Amino acid sequence: MKKGLFITMEGPDGAGKSTQLHFIKSFLEEKGEKAIFTREPGGTPISEKIRKIILDKNNSDMVPMAEALLYAAARAQLVSQVIKPALERGKIVVCDRFVDSSIVYQGYGRGLGESVNVINDYAVAGCIPDITFLMKLAPDLGKSRIKTENKDRIESENSDFHENVYRGYIELEKRYPDRIVTIDAKGTIEEVSREIGAQLERILKNRNDFQ
Ligand code: TMP
Repeated sequence: MKKGLFITMEGPDGAGKSTQLHFIKSFLEEKGEKAIFTREPGGTPISEKIRKIILDKNNSDMVPMAEALLYAAARAQLVSQVIKPALERGKIVVCDRFVDSSIVYQGYGRGLGESVNVINDYAVAGCIPDITFLMKLAPDLGKSRIKTENKDRIESENSDFHENVYRGYIELEKRYPDRIVTIDAKGTIEEVSREIGAQLERILKNRNDFQ
């Protein structure tokens, strides 16, 4: 049986992750790979309920630590119910956001720093992505791509918050150069897909060569 492959998709709000996740889905289907697609926060009934609480704009008094713990709780449930079992069955798992989002949004954005890593060590229980696509887009550009009326509680944060999130992603990119594959999200949808497609070809080839 093939070894599982865990791919995550990261980036600031408005970077175009959802569009490119559709592309990844069709790309893998064409290759005959039956991948499992999931998202954070969410992906299990309990985690989706937690998502609603976290993103609800009425919860404006949620303290940063409660927010970080809720993301981690949703993650613990998803890892244990979906991600780990699928990887153990040799599947490819593609997750829209994962622990890097907590490190940058709660660690850098909310200023919780290292405590976020500690909480999440428990939540992920050793489950670390093999590859992370980082859709890199400056916060002012990302902001202009999201419709004001559709913004959730996190997207509605001020520009300082989103600047810090972006700074966090740049730090992570430096810290994990082998795992994080940076994609320039400024280009057209087709240009970005082409770049992701080329990277996926390489990743699948490596996977096949080593099994
Ligand atoms: P989404 O818009 O990509 O579905 O993600 C929901 C929001 O939650 C997005 O603004 C990023 C934020 N987020 C965090 O702040 N911390 C996390 O750990 C995750 C997974 C998402």
